[in-house]
Amino acid sequence: MAALGPSPWPPLLIPAPTVPLLLLLLLLLASAHPQGLSGMPGEPSLGESSSGEDVLGVEDLPSQEDAPGEADPPGGEDPPGGNSEAQKEDSLKLEDLPTVEPPEDSQGPHEDGKGGGHSLWSYRGTLLWPQVSPACAGRFQSPVDIRLELTSFCRALQPLELLGYELQSLPELSLFNNGHTVQLTLPPGLKMALGPGQEYRALQLHLHWGTSDRPGSEHTVNGHRFPAEIHVVHLSTAFSEFHEALGRPGGLAVLAAFLQESPEENSAYEQLLSHLEEISEEGAKIEIPGLDVSALLPSDLSRYYRYEGSLTTPPCSQGVIWTVFNQTVKLSAKQLHTLFVSLWGPHDSRLQLNFRAAQPLNGRVIEASFPAAGVDSSPEPVPMNSCLAAGDILALVFGILFAATCVALLIQLWRQHRYRSETKDGASYSPAEMTETGA
Ligand SMILES: *[C@@H]1O[C@H](CO)[C@@H](O)[C@H](O)[C@H]1NC(C)=O
Ligand SMILES: [Zn+2]
Repeated sequence: MAALGPSPWPPLLIPAPTVPLLLLLLLLLASAHPQGLSGMPGEPSLGESSSGEDVLGVEDLPSQEDAPGEADPPGGEDPPGGNSEAQKEDSLKLEDLPTVEPPEDSQGPHEDGKGGGHSLWSYRGTLLWPQVSPACAGRFQSPVDIRLELTSFCRALQPLELLGYELQSLPELSLFNNGHTVQLTLPPGLKMALGPGQEYRALQLHLHWGTSDRPGSEHTVNGHRFPAEIHVVHLSTAFSEFHEALGRPGGLAVLAAFLQESPEENSAYEQLLSHLEEISEEGAKIEIPGLDVSALLPSDLSRYYRYEGSLTTPPCSQGVIWTVFNQTVKLSAKQLHTLFVSLWGPHDSRLQLNFRAAQPLNGRVIEASFPAAGVDSSPEPVPMNSCLAAGDILALVFGILFAATCVALLIQLWRQHRYRSETKDGASYSPAEMTETGA
């Protein structure tokens, strides 16, 4: 009906051409921001990824018989072979996975500040971890295989800041063989920031390792397992106790680095390794001089992977923010050997191969502070799988809205201008022009 006579004013709607444009831009926005942790630098708590979604998780419980191959994804190499059967999960279709642990659980694992005596679980035992702690069957567990080409480059991930890690030799620190690992308890005062407003205190550090023949890191990179891995466990300053932070998004943060062989001896590690003989027995504990804890980590704190996962031992509590460094730490062959053969675990067995198999990502996207996926593939300055901080997105949205408004306004003005000049010309315009204007 409108086509016949020109209306006095063009319609006051957003001109048609901008509508698809807007939709397109919104779509682009949505795809540019997959379920990574991009909000993290600002706010440690992305609750949904660690608790809310677990309710959906039943059918995703791995039903494999055995750890061999368990979640070691494509290209994944040898399974821990006979060592992580502990994670068989077939028996439990049971309730799904609470992620907020009851405080009682804090007595358990090596991941906590304490520890003592025997615990219920082991790397090679028959008891299934989810029976020890249901959270071990959760959907967002650690460790994971880091596939470089699937990481999302996130410029907002700034270099980590460590403060007060260079300890004096006094006071002494306690070094403990808890049967699962060797753990160094850290004194108060080691402050770490993942980003602005995300502050943590270091509680303890411990290691995961293999044997002389088989690598034993927990995380893997493109399926490659490293000889060993160090974990420095941190508690958010928002909590005063370890057990309060269990299962809370961002409540705990672990810094992880791979240990690799090199010709030179690592003097920082020597200060730990030289004492292992003294705690070879499960449960043994000694005091050793304080040392430079930052020297146990890579010197480059700017290149790392980031994702949200869990403790890698029971209670397997989720919401743990993982930082896995790209630079490895170098130890001599002799030092690695000392780590592999010095300690004993439960039942007169060597304490070796104390790593958990890779766990499924279940939709998580691992972020990287550097272009780990390779830049060659993307001619654009911003690669397809880049991640944007919350602030960037807000800015982008408003930018787009502003641009769209400007375009709409211009089109509107142009139409009015054209309409006026046509009416000024009086009867001179042809019917063809008339329909064109009115359409
Ligand atoms: C570090 O990053 C490079 C790519 O920049 C990659 O080739 C290498 O495998 C990474 N190493 C680790 C341990 O992540
Ligand atoms: Zn660990």
